[in-house]
Amino acid sequence: MKLVLAFLLAVTTLSQQVTCTTLRLSYKAIFNFGDGLSDTGNLVILSPTALYIGNPPYGETYFNRPTGRASNGRLVVDFIAQSIPLPLAPPYLAKGQDFSKGANFAVTRATALDLKFYLDNNIIPTGLALLNTSLSVQLGWFANLMPSLCNTTDECNLYFSNSLFLLGSIGFSDYTTMLTAGKTVDYVNSKVPDIVCSITSAATSLLDQGVQHMVVPGVVPLGCIPRILTVYGSPNASDYDSIGCLQRYNNISQYHNKMVRDAVKQLQIEFPKAVISYADYYEPITKFLATPRIYGE
Ligand SMILES: *[C@@H]1O[C@H](CO)[C@@H](O)[C@H](O)[C@H]1NC(C)=O
Ligand SMILES: *[C@@H]1O[C@H](CO)[C@@H](O)[C@H](O)[C@H]1NC(C)=O
Ligand SMILES: *[C@@H]1O[C@H](CO)[C@@H](O)[C@H](O)[C@H]1NC(C)=O
Ligand SMILES: *[C@@H]1O[C@H](CO)[C@@H](O)[C@H](O)[C@H]1NC(C)=O
Repeated sequence: MKLVLAFLLAVTTLSQQVTCTTLRLSYKAIFNFGDGLSDTGNLVILSPTALYIGNPPYGETYFNRPTGRASNGRLVVDFIAQSIPLPLAPPYLAKGQDFSKGANFAVTRATALDLKFYLDNNIIPTGLALLNTSLSVQLGWFANLMPSLCNTTDECNLYFSNSLFLLGSIGFSDYTTMLTAGKTVDYVNSKVPDIVCSITSAATSLLDQGVQHMVVPGVVPLGCIPRILTVYGSPNASDYDSIGCLQRYNNISQYHNKMVRDAVKQLQIEFPKAVISYADYYEPITKFLATPRIYGE
């Protein structure tokens, strides 16, 4: 189910991308930050034995081998790169790669909030190691890479003006980490503003450095993902919406996405020369679930 979801998501976002008027098809590089929805291999490099995604059937429909993507095929970020076209952005932790046409800093299970927040608040998910790969750590990796991409301000402005930056999806793993650690839905909802604030800070930092083309995606409907449906399944039919998702958990995603959309509007005002777009990961998934036949089930 998870594999199928990731694959379907990629396909639908591709078709939306093709008709998207703000996507310039002349980018010279693509940079991505995020979690498992867009990790093209960083977690497996960081922790080679820890994860199932380094094993078949992951990768079987496109790469014919596990690549560290949490999918049987390509991810949204891969489809975007191919539609430009650019090479698939290599995972940053794969040292010795050519990053001049892009790099992918996303790490499966990466959080928007720093590891320090989780340690300070004693939020320790059972059975999962916490990672120090948060959004700010990923921005630090980008800062380390920068001198190999451009040095002078003019050089960097030119380079950035021709690059596409994807900031997310991220936040999903914050919510699943908190829930897995036993936090209540009310607690999780109370942290949504902090999580969105960390995304906004990352966006502001990149835009301050001269980034001109940025996409900030929201999160998927939490209440529709197989793990949440399995762990928090309810005997009470009224806890589910019309397509079988858990409404309480979907509400977290809806709240998050509304705040991200508002933040993007604010960033558009603050950085009028930049093209900043919100990307929706929520509606496509509800459509797949409502009418899977149309999407190739
Ligand atoms: C996580 O990594 C960053 C950057 O390498 C470091 O500054 C920070 O102290 C680390 N956090 C923890 C809690 O270890
Ligand atoms: C920037 O300067 C460093 C140190 O001189 C050099 O190694 C690097 O190749 C330069 N980067 C570019 C893009 O020219
Ligand atoms: C199911 O949930 C509804 C709404 O929360 C509640 O009113 C009802 O009592 C619940 N039914 C059972 C059997 O728990
Ligand atoms: C979901 O959010 C809506 C609007 O914010 C609220 O009316 C509803 O009670 C929430 N549902 C659940 C199950 O939390």
